[in-house]
Amino acid sequence: MGVEHRGILRVAYVWIGLNDLKKASRFYRETLGLVETAGERERVYLRCWHEPFHHSLIVEQTAENRLVEIGLEVRDGQDLDALQGKLAARGIPVERAESESVIKGIGRSISFHIPGGHRFRVFDSMEEVGYVTGYASPDWNVPRALRGTPAPLFLGHVGITSPHPEETIRFLQEVLEFQISEWIKAGDNGSPMSALLFRTTNGQDIAVFPGKEAGLHHIAFVKLDETDILNDSTFLVEDGVKIDLYGLTLQSYGKTYSLYLYDPFGVRLELFSGGRFSELHPEYQPVVWTESQLKKALSYYDNFLNEDFLKASL
Ligand SMILES: [Fe+2]
Repeated sequence: MGVEHRGILRVAYVWIGLNDLKKASRFYRETLGLVETAGERERVYLRCWHEPFHHSLIVEQTAENRLVEIGLEVRDGQDLDALQGKLAARGIPVERAESESVIKGIGRSISFHIPGGHRFRVFDSMEEVGYVTGYASPDWNVPRALRGTPAPLFLGHVGITSPHPEETIRFLQEVLEFQISEWIKAGDNGSPMSALLFRTTNGQDIAVFPGKEAGLHHIAFVKLDETDILNDSTFLVEDGVKIDLYGLTLQSYGKTYSLYLYDPFGVRLELFSGGRFSELHPEYQPVVWTESQLKKALSYYDNFLNEDFLKASL
């Protein structure tokens, strides 16, 4: 008998719209080192070399650069129906879609908007296209074609911005049953201005930051360790990629070694290693940061507040 993990299993993909698909596709494949699973005229489906599922990033040709949606996977149709009922009880409009009807590679889905304006799609399965390395006694090495790029292992988490972070965070907790591993409180006793929320064991699947409606703060990909990330930063600088002031640094908030960089459209990306151990248990106790400790939370070594980091990037 398998482990029965109900509800949201993982944050599976981020779907962004950019105004030059050719340029974007080149950046994500050749500079960041993702793998193309499928391509359409207006869309490209990408995954990391260490991911077996159909995609973790979709880039679409759009007139304006924007976050299109975030995809989350549940175990099965029963979970999907239960969530639809829960959303209906709250009066939240839901759209159902059949398998493969909106995007490639996923089963049945429901989509809805969360407080904060983001469109979420929850689906019951994703096609397993397999590891680039194969499954038979694989060599877990970065494929030759991707060497010299960061070629991250898998999608780690996604950061979103909301003009009402407290409301967004509460919705993620109460309806999608995420738990908080860490949060930052506004003022020194105030309401939550930011939170790291999880359904898996690494402390964060979704990060909420204050900011514009339906905004994307960053997309984070997992790397082996901090030395690996340091090497990546040299490749990125050589390729003319803009590196953020936060990188490489220890972010106490989430306890990750993180490097932030920007794609050619200004989308903030993160390469990180480490993180927290978290457990989905009602008594799991979150770490609390006060706003006065923001410098320590975001930049442990330099104790430095990069104001630009607090803005949405899409
Ligand atoms: Fe992050």
